[in-house]
This record gives sequence, C-alpha cells and structure tokens, in this order.
Amino acid sequence: MIITDRWAGGTAASALILFFAAPVAAQTQADVAAAERRAEATVRAMTAAEKTVMTHGIMALPLTANSPPIPADAVPGAGYIPGIPRLGVPALRETDASLGVAYAGGLRKDNATALPSGLAMASSWNPALVEQGGRMIGAEARSKGYNVMLAGGVNLMRDPRNGRNFEYLGEDPLLAGTLVGHAIRGIQSNKIIATIKHLALNGQETGRHFADVRISEDNARESDLLAFELGLEIGAPGSVMCAYNRVNGEQACSSDWLLNRVLKQDWGFKGFVMSDWGAVPNIEAALKGLDQQSGEQLDTAVFFGDKLAQAASGSATWSRRLDDMNKRILTSIYASELDSNPAMPGGVIDYAANAKIAEEVARQGIVLLQNRGNALPLGKTARNILVIGGLATTGVLSGAGSSQVIGDGGPAASIPVGGTGPFAGFMNIVYHRSSPFAAIQAKAPDATVRFRNGRSLSEAAAAAKAADVVIVFANQWSGEGFDQADLSLPDGQDSLISAVADANRNTIVVLQTGGPVLMPWLEKTAAVVEAWFPGIRGGEAIASVLFGETNPSGRLPITFPSSEAHLPRPKLDGFAWLEPDFIGRKPVGAGPLPVDYDIEGSDLGYRWNARQGHKALFPFGFGLSYTTFETSDLKMDGMTASFTLRNTGNRDGTSVAQLYLTDTPVGQRQRLVAFERVGLSAGETRRISMMIEPRTVGEFESGNWVISKGKYSFALGANAEDLGKPVTLRLNRKVWR
Ligand code: BGC
Repeated sequence: MIITDRWAGGTAASALILFFAAPVAAQTQADVAAAERRAEATVRAMTAAEKTVMTHGIMALPLTANSPPIPADAVPGAGYIPGIPRLGVPALRETDASLGVAYAGGLRKDNATALPSGLAMASSWNPALVEQGGRMIGAEARSKGYNVMLAGGVNLMRDPRNGRNFEYLGEDPLLAGTLVGHAIRGIQSNKIIATIKHLALNGQETGRHFADVRISEDNARESDLLAFELGLEIGAPGSVMCAYNRVNGEQACSSDWLLNRVLKQDWGFKGFVMSDWGAVPNIEAALKGLDQQSGEQLDTAVFFGDKLAQAASGSATWSRRLDDMNKRILTSIYASELDSNPAMPGGVIDYAANAKIAEEVARQGIVLLQNRGNALPLGKTARNILVIGGLATTGVLSGAGSSQVIGDGGPAASIPVGGTGPFAGFMNIVYHRSSPFAAIQAKAPDATVRFRNGRSLSEAAAAAKAADVVIVFANQWSGEGFDQADLSLPDGQDSLISAVADANRNTIVVLQTGGPVLMPWLEKTAAVVEAWFPGIRGGEAIASVLFGETNPSGRLPITFPSSEAHLPRPKLDGFAWLEPDFIGRKPVGAGPLPVDYDIEGSDLGYRWNARQGHKALFPFGFGLSYTTFETSDLKMDGMTASFTLRNTGNRDGTSVAQLYLTDTPVGQRQRLVAFERVGLSAGETRRISMMIEPRTVGEFESGNWVISKGKYSFALGANAEDLGKPVTLRLNRKVWR
C-alpha cells in the first residue's frame, strides 16, 4: 500500500501509537504524496482517448487460437498494459509471481530462480530472509524487463485442502501479514511494483469463480483482512489484486465493501486495484473500486475500454471515477519510478548467487516434525542407506499453476496428469533439477546409498530390511485450479511408508507437500521431515538437514489436523466440482456454492482447535531442533513482553519465540501476538523483548478495533499447544480505527 497517515484524526489511536511498532514503509508518505501530485498533473494532460489506455490490458501469452497479438514492446508474461508515450508513461509488463519469475506457460525459455514455496518461506518465521528472497526474485524480474510482479499472495489457510496453500504464508494473520509485507519490500526495492493478492477470502480453488464466501465484517477484519492490512502497511505495494470468488454475494473484484470502503477508505490505499485474470463481472466493478481490468481476453467482454470511455463521456460520476483510476495507476508508476528508472530486458543475473538464497530459504523452512531416539542427524556410521520413492533421484517437487517457475536447464521432469479442460495441457507435475539422492550421496561418501522407486511395496520392504537406515520421500503435488480431495498422501504412498516402516523401524520420512497431510504411519517411523516444495536447491537443503549441517529451525505456519473431522468444513464445499477444469468455472448445471466462513469466523487453524478443544497432529508453531530451548521469566510491561531464552543443548541452534494471547475479559481466545526468530549458541542465554501487535489482542467491532477493559493472559509457547505459565496484564479500554 501506499500509506497515508492512517492514525491522523484518531484520538484513541494516538494513545495506541505509543506502543504500536509502526512499520517503516518502503515508500515514504512524502514519496507517495509527490507521486500523487504528479499523477494528478498527468491526468489533467490526458485526452479522453488516453484515459482508457491504462485501465485494461491483455494476458501477454498466445494461449488460444483467438488470443490477441502480443505487442512489440511487451515481454511475454502474465499481463501487459500499454503505456502512453506522449506523456512519458511506460507500459506495465507483468509477471507472476511470489516464488520467482514464472515461466509463462512454457513460452519463455530463459530460466529463473525458484524459491521454495510460500509455506516453506513462512516456516522460517524470518522476515529478513523473506525480504531477501523478495529482493532476489524482484531483481530477476527487473532484469528480464518486467516492472510489475504479481507477487504477494497472502490468503490465509482456511482449508488445508486448498490447492494454492503452497503459494501463501499460512494460517495466522500476524505471521503471514508480516512476512508478505517484507516480501513486497524486497521486491519493490528493485523499483518495480509488487501486488498483494488475492483480496480477499480466496480460500479454495474448487469453484473459485463462483464460490460465495459468507463472513461477517468483524470476523474478516480479525483474520484474512488483518493479514492484508499488515502486509500493506509494512510493504506498501503499488497494487492490489482482487480475487475470483464472491464475498457475501458480490464478486470480490466488484465489492464496494472490500475495495472502496475497507481498502481505499479505511486503510487509505493510494495505489491501484487490478483484477485477477477473468474476474471482472461487468463495468460496474469500476464504481465498486476496481481500477484495472487484467487479462481481459479471459473475461466475457472488455469492460474498461470503449465502454468505460462512453460511460465517462456522459456522466460526471463515471468521469471522476475514470480520472481516479488513472491517478491511482500513475501514482504507483511514479512512486516506484517506473518511468524514470525503467526495467530493461537483458540484465545480468547471477543465478549461482541467487540459488544460494533459495537454498538458505529452504534450509530455514524445513521443519523437523518427529525425531525418535535422535534418529537424525544421520551420523557418519550409517554404511547402508536406502532411499525410496518421491522421484528422489530426479529432483524436488514444485507446486503448479501461474506461479510455476522453471529453473536452469528446464524441469528435471514434467509429468502430464491429463485432463480435458482448456488448460489441461498445462497440468504437469514439475520437478526442479536438485536431486536429494545425489545430495545425500555427496554427504555420505563412505556409505553405500541405494535407491528404490517404491512402485512395488513388497520389493521396497524387502530392500528396507537390509538397510541401516531408510529415507522415504513422499510427495503431495498441488497447484492452482484444483484442491486436494482429502489429506492422504496420493498414489498409495501411505501404504508404501507403512510397509517400509514395518520392515525397518529406522525409517525417516521426507515429505514434499503443498499443505498438511495425515500420517497414519507416524508411530512406526523414526523421523519425519517436512520439506514442502523446497525450490531450486531443495535437494541440497534436505540433505544438509538430514546430516546435521543445518540444525533445523523451521516452525509450522499452519496446523496439521489430526482428522478431517476436526475441520470447520469436514468435507470441502463443492467437492463434486473438485476438478471441473483447470480454471474452475461454473460447470453446466451447477448451483450456487456458498462457503460459510462464519463457522470458524476469525478462529482459523490453531485458533479453531483451541476453541473446539481439538488436538492437532502437529500444531501451528511446532518444529524440533537438534538442540533444546527453554523460556522463563515472562514479564509484561504494557504491550512489551520480555523473557529469557536459553539454548539448553550442546549444539548451536535457532528457536522461534512465540507469544500467545490465551484469555481475555470477553472470553477465552487464542491468538499469536508476537514472534521472533532467535539464534543461540550452545548453552547461551539471552533476554528478549517483543512488541505485541494490538490488533491481535483487540476485537473488531462495528468499524473499530476495541480492547476491552480487564484482565488479559499471555503465555510463551513452544507452539500453539505447548504453552508456558500464563502472565496476566490489566488493560484499559481502547478504541481505535
Ligand atoms: C491467478 C493469479 C495470477 C494471474 C496471472 C490467475 O489465474 O489467480 O494469481 O497472478 O492468473 O497469471
């Protein structure tokens, strides 16, 4: 977001600002105010015809036979918005997305660096590292000539089966909002525009064009919208992408409530709202707050071209709105200096250095879930290591869809899954060129390391019997346009792990998944490592954790439920339309698809489990290390918490301090209110202090944030379920906007 003084005029607000850690926006208010003034001057100089040039554009890819030609000055990619050379306004050249420069349906042959998935990034709980990742992918985008990155996905995990969970940053608004803000800062440090998306409540792919999410304002503001609000404050992105789904009956891209009232009025957003590709229902969306129609060949008509010009010529309301649309787009262009400091194709990229950043993200994002009898790290004594399954000799798994990045030399494997929809040809299971098997071999030069592909259970089990240690790779592919039907590992991998663990209890499972899975074999296995989709150097990062060069420090940014029956929606809404086609349009004969998010309200994931008394398989915040940590002496001084953190083991390691609200005067509720990643050498003790984000303590009520007068309890947690002794704090009533 481009920030204005959001506290201005508030009286209660001024009291709060004293203890609110106001983030430093990447672009200052002065920059934005100056950009806005320039934008106004440019709008005044525009002809009527020029005013609809930037309000719409195409998907710059020859996807179908009737795709429009790609203009000469476009860079093939997700989107292109023409510029106005007469006024020195550059074209917008847009690329996906949050994990790196996407490969645009195979059209671009130049490689790009694939970061690990969003969930892997979020597992690091490390804003600085996520910012570094953003800086890296933004620099690649700029060097390829793009000046807009459609990166900044922050939809919260409301359903563990959502096919796009891997692109996002988990289930908690404070964690996800903070991290996305830093990712955006990193991207925009390259003088290009980043895009926070998809506003809002885009929680499942099934029926994504017609799912109608029902939620009260208060619940939305304390959860999904809070993640956006924090991301906008910290990152100040130039653009916001609205979502495909409906919210309370309106298309999100035509929601006056979301776009005009919350985003532009309440949050003071000065940049522009672009539609998702094929998400514009009609021209009225402009009055509801949409500023730009993207990927227009996917909509039923070009609403923001001639039709908009016509509307503006006959009405002062439409004409004012059109000026405002232009002003907003230009404000972001000027604030990021797209005109004076243009991105040009042909920049030099140091892929080797960038791969190191991707590897570091993977190392910090891998989560050690189980480690019986210190089965890990693998010592030098293992002589006979058997690796099974997961295409581990080939590479590491990637998530699919518009965010797909292809690295150096093309994919290690690209396996078509088939299908009949228009996008079926793009449905390929892609593996990046980073073989975990080769990386394991490299770490164990004195051992015999063998591989079985795991297609035969009996053969894998027989081989497992003869090994000192077995490492099973188990994969759950996921991607845009489809959800998981359930939380089992696909293709019989649960049975494979079970059979192997029956044959050899020294079985280590390495998961590459797009979200949580159930683990019916958990009790039989020695260790479990969640590697997510670990990016272009994922194999090396996995081996580094297995052999203890990296002491695991990842913590889950999502809950792994112990049963689908515990979910607010045990069965996915629209299950019958799970895979109508890749783009999730309404199948003929399908009725409306209401999705009731008021069931859990703002209590997603661990919050829901706490409310219902459910125990997770692995809770939010969970993650083991090869050392141990202890926290003590929690003290609350207003909204600052301080405590002692000790590394009680004999290895250096990194812990993530997590502070939870556990009780309030208006009822019991659990919320992550502060966190910090802290590295400590063996035996080291440190006093840490953390600031609490007041919006995680307060409630949203009738348009205001409210902290009620009374007693609040806070506890440090090793994770959301393993909480220390609570400390209480008396707070006075505060109301602010
Ligand atoms: C996705 C967006 C993406 C856009 C452009 C849409 O299908 O939902 O996240 O940025 O396509 O590729």
